[in-house]
Amino acid sequence: MSSKKKILITGGAGFIGCHVVKLFVEKYSNYEIYNLDALTYAGNLENLSTIEKAPNYHFIKADIVDKEHIDALFQEYKFDGVLHLAAESHVDRSIKDPLAFVKTNIIGTVNLLNAFRDTWMDNFEGKLFYHISTDEVYGSLGSTGLFEETTSYDPNSPYSASKASSDHFVRAYGETYGLPFKITNCSNNYGPNQFPEKLIPLFINNIRNNNPLPVYGDGRYTRDWLYVIDHARAIDLVYHDGRLGETYNIGGFNEWQNIDLIKILIQQMDEKLGRAKGESEKLITYVTDRPGHDRRYAIDASKINSELGWKPSVTFEEGLSETIDWYLENEKWLNSVTSGDYKKYYDKMYTER
Ligand code: NAD
Ligand code: TYD
Repeated sequence: MSSKKKILITGGAGFIGCHVVKLFVEKYSNYEIYNLDALTYAGNLENLSTIEKAPNYHFIKADIVDKEHIDALFQEYKFDGVLHLAAESHVDRSIKDPLAFVKTNIIGTVNLLNAFRDTWMDNFEGKLFYHISTDEVYGSLGSTGLFEETTSYDPNSPYSASKASSDHFVRAYGETYGLPFKITNCSNNYGPNQFPEKLIPLFINNIRNNNPLPVYGDGRYTRDWLYVIDHARAIDLVYHDGRLGETYNIGGFNEWQNIDLIKILIQQMDEKLGRAKGESEKLITYVTDRPGHDRRYAIDASKINSELGWKPSVTFEEGLSETIDWYLENEKWLNSVTSGDYKKYYDKMYTER
């Protein structure tokens, strides 16, 4: 039997997960990497085509809400480490169907914690449960200030409430059972392979197709954007070098009001598509705001920077340009994920707004 460490990555067929899986499979031939994913609308094995045949890569189709299946998998494989990314991740969907978020994000996380605890309770030495979370748990900022690791939780959407709850469970298992854990809370990610329900890929797809660009409210909401490859690099660093029981905030030092970001996106896309400068600005359409819309997120990432030496490797303009290129070069991927149920989703979210 192999003596290699067995690492479980949940949600590895999703946006951030696929970049983490690829990084770990390629960088750590001394690990066996198990990607566990339910393949919901957001999971796509095509995201992993470059590594699917690697000898240290294994895929397990499973739902983290299914306690018996999760327990059986831990009994069979005895995963030494867990990187937990599987989640329902879109705020607008959480407003329409909060219970789906309670099930996957809270119950699914507790199922994983229980299975991990029961496997290693006698000796946690060298084991790790790493929970990947979001800055949205901290709520909304005014026009100044930054989220620090010590900022009180104040979630406003069903999505952020479910992630906050899962973070609390992870810390509670640390206190109660001595379970070795780490948590990171990251700002908004963008980059290749993101499902086109989130702002940047949805707008890239609509600009490409000359469809309206639905800007919520006054468009002056602020997010702190991070290139997904930089998030994956941070996850690798925290997994290996971060301190046990600690939380690290991860962010791009890169705040944008939505409307300003959209204008940069339009500028880059018009140039790449050979359209006149600013031509696609006519697609901007202000629509009814999202209920409970958080005004501003911004991360103080100085802890991960000073302790682990992490900082973003690309500027926003570079990351955005690479992202647009990826979507334009991967039309097949984009067309396949926007066929079928996507149209129903779009009509429900936008036509009925
Ligand atoms: P995503 O929606 O793109 O992918 C989620 C993945 O989880 C999919 O592959 C899906 O099939 C899988 N999944 C969903 N429910 C499952 C279940 N019940 N059992 C097993 N697998 C299931 O999400 P993402 O954007 O890649 O986010 C990954 C993680 O990072 C999430 O925990 C999210 O909260 C967190 N995060 C995301 C961002 C962001 O900007 N996208 C920022 C900070 C933190
Ligand atoms: P989103 O990508 O959904 O991420 P989050 O809500 O988790 O931050 O949205 C980013 C910002 O863009 C947020 O302020 C909502 C806004 N937005 C729009 O204006 N129009 C859209 O169609 C979408 C999806 C988002």
